[in-house]
Amino acid sequence: MTDAPDGTLFAQVRDPAHRADPYPLYARLRAHPVARQDDGTVVASGYAAIRALLYDPRVSSEDLPPAEHPATGNPVKDWIVNPLKDRITDRHRPFIFRDPPDHGILRRQVMAQFTVARVRGMKRRTEALVAECLERCAQSRTLDLVDDLAYPLPVTVICELLGVPREDEERFHAWATQLATALEPESRNDEELRARNVETFDAIAAYMRDLIREKRRRPADDMLSGLATARDPQAGRMSDPDLIATAILLLIAGHETTVNLITNGMLTLLRHPDELARLRADPERAPRVIEELLRYEPPVHFRTRRALAPIPVARTVIPEGAPLVLLFAAGNRDPARFPHPDRFDPDREDNQHFGFGGALHYCVGAPLARIEAEAALTALAARLRAPRLAEDPPPYRDGSSLRGPKRLRLTIDGIA
Ligand code: HEM
Repeated sequence: MTDAPDGTLFAQVRDPAHRADPYPLYARLRAHPVARQDDGTVVASGYAAIRALLYDPRVSSEDLPPAEHPATGNPVKDWIVNPLKDRITDRHRPFIFRDPPDHGILRRQVMAQFTVARVRGMKRRTEALVAECLERCAQSRTLDLVDDLAYPLPVTVICELLGVPREDEERFHAWATQLATALEPESRNDEELRARNVETFDAIAAYMRDLIREKRRRPADDMLSGLATARDPQAGRMSDPDLIATAILLLIAGHETTVNLITNGMLTLLRHPDELARLRADPERAPRVIEELLRYEPPVHFRTRRALAPIPVARTVIPEGAPLVLLFAAGNRDPARFPHPDRFDPDREDNQHFGFGGALHYCVGAPLARIEAEAALTALAARLRAPRLAEDPPPYRDGSSLRGPKRLRLTIDGIA
């Protein structure tokens, strides 16, 4: 396989200095759609290569022991290994980190609970929650969109969907915020952060164990009751460790991702005032706007995998054992797939982006995420009077995979 001319490009992507605008780095990476970096990681940044790898059964989502560097034979500095590996053992491995056949069995059981009626029911609820958030800011002339709206919304929604009692929601907010850091490669070298995440994981697992017991005793019309009592024709009833891992996964996977879609979304609309005005005039445009946001400023920039065998792709061969990065956000801007990829254009046709990943691990929460983003962005477009960005670019959170503003301060003339 050919080395990229600059094997440090992905290290630069992970450097917070490039967080506000990583796209020029992605364009340089795409010159070699699949390229080995100096640390042995292989980065796929071209659309066609990412797609091929998503569908390739030799690509694994499970955590495997560190690979050896193909050239030196030394262990690859393994930032891909899961930071909660002390806790996420085989008994507790959520299905996002599993391969077939276990992955499919667990995923099918979760999908069965994401019924159309349940997701639709969340639409009106989400709209009401957004309205409540805006009411609280009614007298303000400045807003922080992260704290005032985007952050509280997804945790409340997922708690209600799962059936977490309202009085416990506060604790979930704190847990979700803490555990979101575990999804970041950067957290893996930080022992203190790891210890805090393990502690949080234990607290939430203990809480879930009790809640599941309660749901089995007195099932209600919520997802956790459904998961705890349903019987899969093939696998039977889900085990407690799988149930706990699944509930925690749903909480984490749907939290910061949705926050970032709302904040990246409003930031992009404020940078494209014509599009904001069009959305205000015609809320029916929201689905198009949101699909284009998922391509243009996706909340999840990359996901990691491992090659189980040598894999020929994009005129090169990925070595067996290599840690792999699927750089979705670079694929989303590949000019070979999307005309004028750096243009934000909600009217674009054939917009098959990687915003929710693809293939086996395609996001199970996509319909819910779309509903939440639609409720938030249409309400913001309709109700904020003369919104302006107080800082551009805003400060970003450290994460390079889950990428989004730490705060998004707006100045407004009022709320309608
Ligand atoms: C998987 C993005 C919201 C639950 C994924 C993946 C992406 C993604 C890119 C693929 C991961 C991979 O290939 O390794 C997003 C974005 C969201 C969002 C951008 C919001 C805007 C949600 C919500 C939930 C959720 C609200 C749940 C309530 C999951 C789960 C998986 C997943 C369980 C794992 C699926 C599997 O491994 O089969 N998501 N997600 N996500 N997402 Fe989401």
